[in-house]
Amino acid sequence: MAARLGVSRAAVWKQIEALRAMGYEIEASTKKGYRMSCSLDLLDSDLILSGLKTKWLGKNMLCFDEVDSTNVVAASMAQKADNGTVVLAERQTQGRGRLARSWASPQGGVWMSIILKPDMPLAHVYRLNMIASIALARAFFGLYGLSAGIKWPNDLLIGDRKICGILMEINAEVDRLNYVIMGVGINANIDVSGFPEEWRSTSLSHELKRKILRVELIQRVLQEMEEAYEKMDSKEIYEEWRGRSITLGRQVRITSINGDLYGDAMDLEEDGALIIKTENDLKRVLAGDCIHLRATGSA
Ligand code: BTN
Repeated sequence: MAARLGVSRAAVWKQIEALRAMGYEIEASTKKGYRMSCSLDLLDSDLILSGLKTKWLGKNMLCFDEVDSTNVVAASMAQKADNGTVVLAERQTQGRGRLARSWASPQGGVWMSIILKPDMPLAHVYRLNMIASIALARAFFGLYGLSAGIKWPNDLLIGDRKICGILMEINAEVDRLNYVIMGVGINANIDVSGFPEEWRSTSLSHELKRKILRVELIQRVLQEMEEAYEKMDSKEIYEEWRGRSITLGRQVRITSINGDLYGDAMDLEEDGALIIKTENDLKRVLAGDCIHLRATGSA
């Protein structure tokens, strides 16, 4: 290999070690050289674009090795960027989650932010949450036969374990939406045994007992996302989002800036609000952290 590339053996070894550090399994044999036992799945924009069947989403794509947060990178370029620009990174050092939490982002996941500039009032931004969670659930089922449920407002769970999170960050003035950064974190080829049990995480590789091709997953997610985005105003989107909910029919605890609220999740409204039956009345919740308690048998 060294002779063919015109570099030293040490230079080849250094690159092999770098690939191993990224999680690739590479066998070494003194006489034969190196052999990689899985196909290369690095995030490369040319590779992703070559099989991407979207019309506009992801046509401008940037892939980084390591960033603090793809949402931060996307926000720094959003004013001038085209609608549908995608930022991806192999690793994030300061991945951000909802409610100011951090998001573990080691090698092997899909850490992606999409810059969107929809022409719609600020009050309709919840629809982007709906299309994102639907698109991801469709992609997981279409590619791997995995049924992901949506925990309100937009976590994707397999069983009761989180496989994917969405963080939307908005830049707006009064009622004018400048841009939205839609951050998507998918535990793809992640060994979740290293994550604390209380996170209740899972990953695609854990569920499928094999590694998946992230390039194919990204292409599919973007395709599903574009399709759903173009139908964003239709009732179909809301109905699918509601239909995929695993929060309805559960007793829940909602934590928000107003404190904790306990009750039964009765309904989901078209604007994304969760209707909770508390001891005294019905409450309408638009944002917060939702914990599933037990099933109620209603809804
Ligand atoms: C959640 O808390 O469930 C949302 C997690 C969102 C994580 C993604 S990874 C890509 C993007 N960049 C970030 O820093 N966060 C989002």
